[in-house]
Amino acid sequence: MKVLVVGGGGREHALSAALYSSGAEIYSAMKNRNPGIVRLAKDVCLIEETDVINVVKFAKSSNVDLAVMGPEAPLEVGLVNLLQAEGIACVGPTREAARLETSKSFARELMQRYDIPGNLHFASFDNSKDAKKFIRDSGLELAIKPIGLTGGKGVKVMGEHLQTIQDADEYLEEIFRQNMGGGGVILEERAVGEEFTLQVFCDGRNIIPMPLVQDHKRAYEGDKGPNTGGMGSYSAEDHLLPFVNNNDRDAALNIMRLTIEAMAREGHPYRGVLYGQFMLTCEGPRVIEFNARFGDPEAMNVLSILETPFLDICQNIVDGSLSKDISFARKATVCKYVVPKGYGTSPQAGKLIEINENAIAREDARIYFAMVNEEGNDILTTTSRSIGVVGIDDSIQAAEEACERALDHIHGEAIFVRHDIGKAELVNKRIEHIAKLRKA
Ligand code: AMP
Ligand code: GLY
Repeated sequence: MKVLVVGGGGREHALSAALYSSGAEIYSAMKNRNPGIVRLAKDVCLIEETDVINVVKFAKSSNVDLAVMGPEAPLEVGLVNLLQAEGIACVGPTREAARLETSKSFARELMQRYDIPGNLHFASFDNSKDAKKFIRDSGLELAIKPIGLTGGKGVKVMGEHLQTIQDADEYLEEIFRQNMGGGGVILEERAVGEEFTLQVFCDGRNIIPMPLVQDHKRAYEGDKGPNTGGMGSYSAEDHLLPFVNNNDRDAALNIMRLTIEAMAREGHPYRGVLYGQFMLTCEGPRVIEFNARFGDPEAMNVLSILETPFLDICQNIVDGSLSKDISFARKATVCKYVVPKGYGTSPQAGKLIEINENAIAREDARIYFAMVNEEGNDILTTTSRSIGVVGIDDSIQAAEEACERALDHIHGEAIFVRHDIGKAELVNKRIEHIAKLRKA
């Protein structure tokens, strides 16, 4: 079966690898020349992924039967709607269903309308003056978010990224001045706890959960620095997390089930992967955001241990016939992203990365290329994340060690890795934080 994969990051390399190993012929539409995807693909079209007219042209001329969406930007401009109009089935939501991610106010209002648990108090604004007044009147520390897409970098939380009311004012002005995420802003109650990600497959009606993952958004070790798209992530062999129990997970899954039901009732059934970002608080999981796609890096954690052929799952998603017999290996995974030095503020592009892939193949690890460029035999950094390195073993600790052994085979004068991800010190900090919250 011929399958179009849209996107050229680590997530899309993982998607392509999972599709390829389940028998698909891969056609790739991406803006950078991802060397991992190039190797797997029958044909590649280098293109802006939001150039939907030409992506559809490529899909038609390649005669693909199915299209699998990677990033959010093409969803927002209706790539799925256009492909479906041409008779090409899609794993990924229509523009309308993707509003769960592309409009933070849509998602919160939907949850409110359908009385779905896990929502946070929120208010939306179309100007900075009213937003500033709201902050003063509330007297609370709030999360400040542009309503639309910002590539994971638009959220600032008072008390974390913003220390004073003046900092909050300045950030609000910046959002409106720069028209970030379309210009509107949503202020949310600040949730306190630890974050986790639950991704589900969804065929419009049925949903099947994947193992839980914890991502690390902050750029530097010890969770310091600016927010990024994600510096790395881990999952546990029992598919929960060391600080998330079965009840917490079921509560999060119930929130996602009710959200999917609400979308169907709204006349926009959701087909694809839905990603729930949750804060586990002392009162249970609260929704931080939904994403209308796999997470990046989280896709690399779960797809690396998926045992059911991914192509079959994709077909079931588009047929509306998802069934419970999807299995993941009982393995832990730790993913650390190699990024260009300065990533998060002023990344160094065009720098050489040397990789000994044969040596990595001998470890319990896999690598997925992300936003690098291949020039001749050289792999060069861009301004985005470079290579996802995933260790896979029986425990988080063993997977972390495998990831580090693989990282020993990657060198570059201008690369950076958050080595603390998956290490006992950081994982224990999460466990202790939740234990303290549960007691209080
Ligand atoms: P997002 O892009 O919505 O995932 O937000 C980025 C990060 O900001 C999240 O991973 C959280 O760490 C933090 N964040 C977002 N919303 C809230 C909130 N309401 N309360 C506390 N932290 C938040
Ligand atoms: N890792 C978070 C995201 O993909 O949005």
